[in-house]
Amino acid sequence: MKELLQKLHDAAMQAILETEDVDSLESLRVKYLGKKGELTSILRQMGRLSAEERPAMGQLANQLRAEIEQTLETRRAALNEARLEMKLLQETVDVTLPGKKQPQGHKHPMYNVLDQIKDIFIGMGFEIVDGPEVELSDYNFTKLNIDEGHPSREWTDTFYFTGDSRICLRTQTSPMQIHAMETRPLPIRMIAPGRVYRKDEVDATHSPMFHQIEGMVIDKGVTMSDLKATLNLVVEKIYGKGTVTRFRPHHFPFTEPSCELDIQCHKCGGRGCPTCKGEGWIEVLGAGMVHPKVLAGCGIDPDVYSGWAFGMGLERLAMGEYKITDLRLIFENDVRFLEQF
Ligand code: DAH
Repeated sequence: MKELLQKLHDAAMQAILETEDVDSLESLRVKYLGKKGELTSILRQMGRLSAEERPAMGQLANQLRAEIEQTLETRRAALNEARLEMKLLQETVDVTLPGKKQPQGHKHPMYNVLDQIKDIFIGMGFEIVDGPEVELSDYNFTKLNIDEGHPSREWTDTFYFTGDSRICLRTQTSPMQIHAMETRPLPIRMIAPGRVYRKDEVDATHSPMFHQIEGMVIDKGVTMSDLKATLNLVVEKIYGKGTVTRFRPHHFPFTEPSCELDIQCHKCGGRGCPTCKGEGWIEVLGAGMVHPKVLAGCGIDPDVYSGWAFGMGLERLAMGEYKITDLRLIFENDVRFLEQF
């Protein structure tokens, strides 16, 4: 019996050490040590032994079983480790391989122009302010001295809300003048870029949504010459030194006096060409001295303070700068178009 046990032990040990995968280790355990395994069947023969022989044989059987179990465990651990090692090896990343290029977008051309304008005004000590696109008609019109009955308040021009003419999508960034005057300490130097909405059909020069930049200065002793000097400087920064400007009288309800600023066509030098539609001049913005009624309506004493303001269209500026001939291209976001800038 001793030999039988020893033979079983040796055979088991050899089989275990030769095994190359964890799953067959389990079958070996069942085969040798399981309930119906070989060791059990040898031990069944214990009955034939004498009472003196039995304890020693029992002890031997236990010792051999322990050895086999120990070896099974060690082998299992070794195989697992080898498997992990192999897996790690197979999954190594070759960091020297060239990467896959990710296409990277860039800023929209119109925002390039806006950033340029912001930089110019920040450089002169202006703040950039933001405000609501859904606006009270009071702010979009009334407080700007645009009274009931003014054509720009018509339902055919302005997007009003749910049959309520007290709320609309702002048709201009000028209500930001009111917000600034009502909430900011004086003096004020600010620009307010943003979206505006009008009931226009889409074509090469119109869109129901477009962008304006509002600008305003309120302080003591501010005059029209400040307006002209500042805007001339801005024009030179945008269009280059020596750009000729012209301030043309105009009318806006919220400024008095009001003007429009034209630049001499940089393409033809004023002789007239397709860029300036034969005019020699290109209209850039509307401006003026903030109306005393508007100042007073915001609680600012027009006898102490004065101010100037301007408003310009951002798309028009970007189209001029990048020679874009159709407004729709700016909003369609066709990458083949956008990639060019
Ligand atoms: N809000 C005017 C418009 O949409 C533009 C404008 C004109 C703004 C004169 C101003 C200004 O601030 O002073 O046509």
